[in-house]
Amino acid sequence: MKFTLALSNLIENAIKYTANGGEVKVTLQSDLQDLFISVQDTGIGIAKEEQSKIFERFYRTDKTRNRETGGTGLGLAITYKTVVMHNGAIQVESEEGIGSIFTVQIPLRHVWEGGR
Ligand SMILES: Nc1ncnc2c1ncn2[C@@H]1O[C@H](COP(=O)(O)OP(=O)(O)O)[C@@H](O)[C@H]1O
Ligand SMILES: [Mg+2]
Repeated sequence: MKFTLALSNLIENAIKYTANGGEVKVTLQSDLQDLFISVQDTGIGIAKEEQSKIFERFYRTDKTRNRETGGTGLGLAITYKTVVMHNGAIQVESEEGIGSIFTVQIPLRHVWEGGR
């Protein structure tokens, strides 16, 4: 599965769940061992008790379930699977009404080897 799809899902969400005038920021960082990609927004946020469920297939939070924005609830499941396939990890930090940060961590060794 393509890594670009994993990232575009995160960026799409950040834009979709942030009101006009908000901010979406994508940053890349690395240390000797890992590459860190984070997608940060100033959007609606995700309740603490839902943060562990959003990576499940078809899960949409209470806040977005009945929205006209639409969505399948599959994006993050695909992202999660892709990240794990690249030996990586993903974590979310979020506060309702403040925003969210999704951080993907990929071992550099794996990046150099071309994701084999
Ligand atoms: N950046 C975000 N801000 C707020 N809620 C989010 C964000 N990203 C994901 N979510 C929540 O997680 C759910 C699952 O995300 P995703 O799998 O991409 O499905 P969807 O098709 O609904 O976007 C979304 O429906 C939304 O409730
Ligand atoms: Mg989505």
